Amino acid sequence: MRDTNPSPSAAVTDPARPAPDPADPAEITELRRVAVHLAQTAAAHVRARRPEVFGAGEDAQDAVRAKSSPTDPVTVVDTETEQLIRRLLAELRPGEAVLGEEGGGSLGDDRQIVWVVDPIDGTVNFMYGIPAYAVSVAAMRGGRSLAGAVVDVAAARTYSAGLGAGATRTGPDGIANPLRCNEVDSLAMTLLATGFGYGAARRARQGRLIGELLPHVRDIRRIGSAALDLCMVAAGRADAHYEHGLNTWDWAAGALIAAEAGARLVLPPAGTTGKTGELVVAAAPGIATELLELFDRLGVSEAIAES
Ligand code: IPD
Repeated sequence: MRDTNPSPSAAVTDPARPAPDPADPAEITELRRVAVHLAQTAAAHVRARRPEVFGAGEDAQDAVRAKSSPTDPVTVVDTETEQLIRRLLAELRPGEAVLGEEGGGSLGDDRQIVWVVDPIDGTVNFMYGIPAYAVSVAAMRGGRSLAGAVVDVAAARTYSAGLGAGATRTGPDGIANPLRCNEVDSLAMTLLATGFGYGAARRARQGRLIGELLPHVRDIRRIGSAALDLCMVAAGRADAHYEHGLNTWDWAAGALIAAEAGARLVLPPAGTTGKTGELVVAAAPGIATELLELFDRLGVSEAIAES
């Protein structure tokens, strides 16, 4: 198992690639400011559009289409929100690359800043009106997240972090509080958040693994947004999150936020597509070793590739 972040202040790194030049603190502050601005502006758009597209009496049939499977949706709001973020980036950071869930892109080379965007993480919740969906924006270089912001749209809460600069949550009142993982030190008391992919074969295996894990932990949560799960680990509202087959845009901001709040991370190389089914983990430091050992014993550490 690749454990990419043994110490709380360590970076979200990809050990398969050489470390890029260290970013200077002023650059990180500016990248974080831009990530927060983009995610908050996009979240305001998502918030305004939901009642227009999915409100009572609206016929939302034309607003949704299927992606990788009939249960993997993209809505018009996902598409237009990513376009909004791309337009703003072109004005604020002209020439910088973007990797987005809906519009694609690449991570570029080790010297380039790449903006990694998930316009709505938790699209199924968004469609159903379950208040757990988020906009996620991260600035990466050389496979490493330098800054990131996740906005919980319904709660109007902004989670953000800069590499080496800590993580905060800012409420709708504008007050920012530093984030710290729970001090839990026993697996039996661990609240474990997870998620499932969209393909039936992967889900079947994920379901069997949940059954194996459940007797070892306090309980399991499946909230429906990996980005928010990672922020919940940072905020002490869950003790760990794991999932197979996430894409880089699902974790690029949230994993940095969790790491800066003290979590230990296991990450695939940035840019790995969800198809290979590799594992993402963020765990509170007091239970991380025990949890990763259990994952090894039960086979959770193995990738679940799409068949
Ligand atoms: C999904 C959510 C979900 C996770 C899925 C992701 P999306 O993102 O993060 O919690 O279990 O694997 O694909 O599709 O809503 O952007």
